[in-house]
Amino acid sequence: MKVTIDGQSIDVEPGTTILQAARMIGGDLVPPAMCYYSKLKGSGGKCRCCLVEVSKGSEADPRPMPKLMASCVTGCMDGMEVNSKSSDRVTEARKSVTEFLLINHPLDCPVCDQAGECDLQNLSFEHGNPKSRFIEEKRTFEPENIGPNIQLHMNRCILCQRCVQVADQLTDNRVHGVLDRGDHANISTGISKAIDNEFSGNMIDVCPVGALTDKTFRFKSRVWFNKPYNAHRECTTPGCCGKTTVWMFGGEIQRVTGRKDEYHEVEEFICNSCRFDHKNVEDWTIEGPREFEKDSVINQNNYTQKLEKVQIDTEKNILLGRDADRKKISMAEIPLNTNNKNS
Ligand code: SF4
Ligand code: FES
Repeated sequence: MKVTIDGQSIDVEPGTTILQAARMIGGDLVPPAMCYYSKLKGSGGKCRCCLVEVSKGSEADPRPMPKLMASCVTGCMDGMEVNSKSSDRVTEARKSVTEFLLINHPLDCPVCDQAGECDLQNLSFEHGNPKSRFIEEKRTFEPENIGPNIQLHMNRCILCQRCVQVADQLTDNRVHGVLDRGDHANISTGISKAIDNEFSGNMIDVCPVGALTDKTFRFKSRVWFNKPYNAHRECTTPGCCGKTTVWMFGGEIQRVTGRKDEYHEVEEFICNSCRFDHKNVEDWTIEGPREFEKDSVINQNNYTQKLEKVQIDTEKNILLGRDADRKKISMAEIPLNTNNKNS
């Protein structure tokens, strides 16, 4: 089947969605997605970020679709023509969806661990309005402790339901979900149960905002001060690939995550043992710097080539940093695997 998006045509298999076809073409025409996740069955259709305009339904029925369509759940038809970035209507709709998502989302990026790798931050950078028209009070929730590894910040949740799908599809017993309805809808365990399944840490990776963060990394560092390296270990947990990204600050592993692609989706899920319990460099075989995604402040620190050693010469009395921290910011001596394709 042939489908054309923003003037670029591609042949796709029946059953391919418009979003998947756009990702096959790549580039700026790919719609943003906050709830669709290629590794989770049934994801998508909730956030409306991925709206596109279908200007020609198909070769058999060329009428345009009157409403904007969610590209992650709309299948391609032969001869279909779609406008994404090229449509003013779509740009306007993405702006409105962003404004809607930000109605209740707190603007606490300066203290949020997700800052720098947050899909909502990237979305508002591209489509956000510098001023909010919302004068009412934002909805807030009582803090809930969901266990030793994962921090839930319900005020930041956009109810994409990816974490619920992780629990449904990767763990044996789901103990959390979406409770209540409308403005009161929230992610909760209901009776403050701990989420402790061996694969539960993947909820942190799939959460597009800072609603679920890693307690073992909390407030340790801004992500752009870390250097992400692909690494692997012989993991004995059934179902875990043992292939991860380790986030280093100097010679210290501060965080372990799944390996993510350019759409911030993990290639394979990992177990809690790899994620939370193995933070020593000796635990891992470091392969080399991981590939950078296109929308990330981490790009600012691109270190795929050997860099000169950085000497951070801060004014001691102004920044009050510890001498040890200034040294750690300097590049660690990690051998680079030059066979890796990094951009
Ligand atoms: S906690 Fe995160 S992953 Fe779960 S529904 Fe909220 S935004 Fe989505
Ligand atoms: S990504 Fe399509 S509706 Fe959320």
